[in-house]
Amino acid sequence: MKKILVTGGLGYIGSHTALSLIEKGYDPILLDNLSNSEQFIVDRLESLSKKKIKFYNSDLSDELALNQIFSDNEIDSVIHFAAFKAVGESVANPIKYFSNNINSLSSLIKVMNNNKCKKIIFSSSCTVYGEPKKIPVDEKAKIQKAHSPYGETKQICESMLEHSASAYDLKVISLRYFNPIGAHDSGVIGELPIGTPQNLIPFICQVAAGIRDKLLVWGKDYDTYDGTAIRDYIDINDLADAHVISLAKHDALEDNFNVFNLGSGSGTSVLEIIETFEKVNGVKVNYEYADRRLGDVEKIYCDPSKANRLLNWNTKRSLEESLKTAWRWQENLL
Ligand code: UD1
Repeated sequence: MKKILVTGGLGYIGSHTALSLIEKGYDPILLDNLSNSEQFIVDRLESLSKKKIKFYNSDLSDELALNQIFSDNEIDSVIHFAAFKAVGESVANPIKYFSNNINSLSSLIKVMNNNKCKKIIFSSSCTVYGEPKKIPVDEKAKIQKAHSPYGETKQICESMLEHSASAYDLKVISLRYFNPIGAHDSGVIGELPIGTPQNLIPFICQVAAGIRDKLLVWGKDYDTYDGTAIRDYIDINDLADAHVISLAKHDALEDNFNVFNLGSGSGTSVLEIIETFEKVNGVKVNYEYADRRLGDVEKIYCDPSKANRLLNWNTKRSLEESLKTAWRWQENLL
């Protein structure tokens, strides 16, 4: 059975991907430093999958430990999620982001090379496009200056991987996610923010649950149909599946460095998210307007046709389903 190292394997996208990998017959080995996740996710993944999961509580900066993990396991491919990901925090503390996100990938590439592991799937983001000149944005769009240090780290990491693909014969798939939302149907794993949630849906869930008074909608003067910012929200289960499909297609792709947009292909405003959440879950979300958040772009959604065509991947879940599972997960936390 092919062994896949999943870095950041207990995080939001990592945990859903791990489950999807097991369901498709892969043997994921999870690595996480628990900086933004909890160890009990391992138990939950084991009970959902009915499989024993190998987990390493380790940091990628520890190259000796990482080398040992590669020596002890025959790792065929890596899916690299481990990184900090809050746009606002990255503006306030840029060095935390540059230091962690770039150094961890650098260690990983070195150790992969030492161990002749040649395949990597990288967790990139639509943030590499900055404020795109044309939407829907496709992969040929010129990379603009990112709006945040977080975005810049994703751009730099893609560049490191592109150079490594030619220098070390690495085979790279970089998946540019738009905005992942929702949870596993069981409501047993989901997005687990530690401290105050930075992302929209976890914050909405906590307001609806009465944990927080109100949501602040950042910006009502954007040049959009209702003045609030527009994003392309994609269901976490669809996103997890895209990683499993990418693994299977890895060898068949002609190029050594491949980028794919992963999104629904349509844009939704913050107000539309609030209204839909209230409607499908029968709950109230109190909100008020506040100034724009530093680092935010006005509107972005993608053209996902390259992934549809070359990976044969399509989204299956609606926005309504994602917002229902997000709320189911929140209710289970109460
Ligand atoms: C950004 C990245 C995305 C990445 C994510 C990781 C861009 C365009 N997108 O998402 O690729 O996966 O970071 O964290 O850079 N909002 C509020 N109030 C809140 C929280 C959010 O109004 O309390 C608004 C934001 O201003 C934004 C939308 O909701 O318009 C979505 O925000 P969020 O969930 O934080 O994701 P992005 O910043 O879009």
